[in-house]
Amino acid sequence: MSVPEYWYNILADLDFELPPDLPARSREGSSIRPQVPLALVRQEMSRERRVAIPAGVIERYRQWRPTPLRRARAFEDWLGTRCPIFYKYEGGNLSGSHKLNTAVAQAYYYRRAGVRRLTVGTGAGQWGTAVAAACSMFGLDCTVYMVRSSLLAKPYRKTIMEMLGATVVPSPSGHTDPGRRAGGDTNPGSLAVALAEAFADAQEPETRFCTGSGETYALLHQTVIGLEAREQLAEVGCSADVVIGAIGGGSNFGGLALPFLEFVVRDDDRVRCVSVEPAACPKLTRGTYAYDFTDASGLTPLQKMYTLGHRFVPPEVHAGGLRYHATAKLISALYDRKLIYALACGQREVFATSLAFAKSEGILPAPESAYAIHGATIEARRAERSGSRPVILVGVSGHGLLDMAAYESYMDGTMVDAEATDHQIEAALAHLPGQPVLGRVT
Ligand SMILES: Cc1ncc(COP(=O)(O)O)c(C=O)c1O
Repeated sequence: MSVPEYWYNILADLDFELPPDLPARSREGSSIRPQVPLALVRQEMSRERRVAIPAGVIERYRQWRPTPLRRARAFEDWLGTRCPIFYKYEGGNLSGSHKLNTAVAQAYYYRRAGVRRLTVGTGAGQWGTAVAAACSMFGLDCTVYMVRSSLLAKPYRKTIMEMLGATVVPSPSGHTDPGRRAGGDTNPGSLAVALAEAFADAQEPETRFCTGSGETYALLHQTVIGLEAREQLAEVGCSADVVIGAIGGGSNFGGLALPFLEFVVRDDDRVRCVSVEPAACPKLTRGTYAYDFTDASGLTPLQKMYTLGHRFVPPEVHAGGLRYHATAKLISALYDRKLIYALACGQREVFATSLAFAKSEGILPAPESAYAIHGATIEARRAERSGSRPVILVGVSGHGLLDMAAYESYMDGTMVDAEATDHQIEAALAHLPGQPVLGRVT
């Protein structure tokens, strides 16, 4: 099979509109420059079902796509299930994850819009690495604000990003107002603060903030994953009954699941799409569907999302990329309409499954991807109990070869299960901005 020539836009097939974003408020009278190139704004609003991928992006995709789809037979044996489990592996590129699928597209459009430098906030480091790689492809400078605790746990992420020409700043930093407000270099940081720092830095000339996961155009770019998987399953005479992905901002889950949801929304097929999140950061399973800021600065436009509140600082878990307070407005709307499902898991059970997967399948999953694999075991057991044998498709969004501190802590027994408390969630939700009444923010 070859690389897809188009991205799938589910907005064309939904019988409802996404709630509109509400404009950013500026602090102390500062004006906030629009960040996103027109080409991406158009994609965000497009109702065209198939959006053509530019030749310059396809050429780059060919370096690592199509990605492999494999049947996890040895893992099925370990689990003792009769459900066929397939996995789509996105770890085989320089950045080590699915993030490069949209980073390449975004860098391409920013470059065409005349931008010279991109700033990004990154949790686990995969998004930063992906944008660093994409910037080096298209001749852009890149500044990465990386959550300090992740950077300390994964120093080689910094090395890769610097090899690719990026400047890497531990967040919170003293470089920006949001970083200074968050407590500078004694604070372990969070993705919301790192994003706020990158956003603040992007007010410099010829610089733009490049958002990672949650934007609808980022999910659109990621649909190459599900489009390929659909075709690869068809080649072996299968289709998926259950599709599972880990959820941070929502991009790998969306990228895998949206092309299967096309069957659900257009043909009324029953494909069960399940997202898996950490019990430490349970935005879908315990959050609220409300307008909130996409980072901790309180300056970004408001989006209607499932959120734990932009002030929520998730307890430490090793899947840094899942420690995001909210999830994509598109995914949130699908969840609100019960078109998709969500599970929350503790990290020790997740790592136990991940080690079994590594030993049986010969691939070491990223901690984030391990949540999806564990979700597959829950779904397989559930199906066995009800006497069904669905074909399960799981997104292995990245490799874990730079996450050895996480695996080590599981092996030496120091890993603990952190769960968000009701008190933490309530306290953060108390800081939600006023909700719009008749189209206004109160
Ligand atoms: C390997 C991997 N999987 C999943 C995620 C979660 O992000 P998203 O929900 O946008 O896919 C991340 C985020 O850093 C990641 O690095």
